[in-house]
Amino acid sequence: MKTGSSVTLLMLTATLLSACTTGQPVPGTPAAAGPPPTPSHPHEIRTVAPTWIRGLRIVSDNSDSASCPWAVSYPAVPGADALTTALREKTENRVKTLRESQNGVQDAECPTDDAPELNVSFRFLAAAGDVVGVELTTVDRTAAGDGTSVATYWYDTRTRKSVSTSALIADAASGEFDAALTKALSSREGADPDTLKAALAPEYRTSTISNLAFTEGGDLVAEFDQGTVAVVPAGRQKVVIPKVQAEPLLSDFGRRAEQQALQPGNRLDLGGAPAPAPPTTNTAAPPPAGPAVDCLQVKCVALTFDDGPGPDTAKLLDTLARFDAHATFFVVGQNATYNADLIRKEAAAGHEIGNHSWNHPDLRQLSPDQIHDQIGRTDRAVTDAVGHPPTVIRPPYGAINDDVRAAADRPMILWSVDTLDWKFHDSAKVAQTVLDKTKPGDIVLLHDIHPTSVDAVPDILTGLKEQGYTFVTVSQLFGSSHLTPGKAYGDNDKAFGRS
Ligand code: NI
Repeated sequence: MKTGSSVTLLMLTATLLSACTTGQPVPGTPAAAGPPPTPSHPHEIRTVAPTWIRGLRIVSDNSDSASCPWAVSYPAVPGADALTTALREKTENRVKTLRESQNGVQDAECPTDDAPELNVSFRFLAAAGDVVGVELTTVDRTAAGDGTSVATYWYDTRTRKSVSTSALIADAASGEFDAALTKALSSREGADPDTLKAALAPEYRTSTISNLAFTEGGDLVAEFDQGTVAVVPAGRQKVVIPKVQAEPLLSDFGRRAEQQALQPGNRLDLGGAPAPAPPTTNTAAPPPAGPAVDCLQVKCVALTFDDGPGPDTAKLLDTLARFDAHATFFVVGQNATYNADLIRKEAAAGHEIGNHSWNHPDLRQLSPDQIHDQIGRTDRAVTDAVGHPPTVIRPPYGAINDDVRAAADRPMILWSVDTLDWKFHDSAKVAQTVLDKTKPGDIVLLHDIHPTSVDAVPDILTGLKEQGYTFVTVSQLFGSSHLTPGKAYGDNDKAFGRS
């Protein structure tokens, strides 16, 4: 297994990038009708969380295997098919390439306990009016350097077409834009004039500039993946063009992108409508997760569903209700943000909500600050939905070290029955695995992002019910007083009622 020695960057903008030029803070806040502003960090890339897009789906595919760690996620924006297709192809290709490199076939067993991790996550740069911008961040630990690459995808809802990064710049300003980039980059350590000239040539510029976006202060940021405009050890490069200098360079689309990034409306012109306002929540102590069950007296099993909410989570909730079964949902913050209604339904039905990180990285590869960010952002997303943070946590891949233990600050729940549902996508096989392996006190690992797993649940509940099982949350399984913050539970021999 890898250790936490190679700290890499999921939060890209801070450390490895070259110093940026000061811009002006965003004046005021977006219009009252618009979404809440993000905290003002004038030098950081402006992002939004467009929960107002009706029908927005977050598509996730994760391995949840420490020996084969990959997790990818991208938004499917209804009505923006070209954008969704581009994001899907990019993420699916990354997974396909990784899996083919592992054993030469797509459904191969993972080869070793030291497989490199792949993670693809997203942020919206804009998603209102007539513009959508999505940033995809890929961390590929098989790659050189820190393995991080970033790509932006801009989309024009007027033409319903994808827009290249270069198209944010007016044709007439192309030369001036190149000159600004060349001037900034030519003095960087590891920069080679010939490489730079070739990389910035108009025919290559679109693929060379990995990210073109706006800071919260309105400056224009161009980012370059490592090895494209300087030697790999120099890392990723970033050029910040101050707002006053950048605005004259922008094309019509560029100006619209800037406006929707900095002063977004509250709807996207693709037939979407503002999402209903979430009900007022409070910060009182969490309600007990389901009725009291004494698992010393009855035969208990805790079904757990990770990585969601997903497209079939609502269907799963209906199934669980039909069987009067309780379960635990270890949610990913990136998905929870856009599925607050489902999180509320999970909690209202007596299920337990657990924290499964923001975007499913192997937390051992991150710095303590980054681990806190992964957990804290997900706590806030769940609190926004149900009024209190999760009381249990499951680190992605079950991967734990001392930094993870310290940051978790609550019980870490692993599992004792691994269905490998993410690998087989076979409902009958998943159901049979659970029925064959489950013993009293077990914690069963499933994923509600996979339709085949959700479809296996009726057979699982029917079969286990016939065996006399009661379906409980993990806190009910252990009895919350027995759980210690920072301690891991599950893992074959520590489940309740077993030695
Ligand atoms: Ni997971």
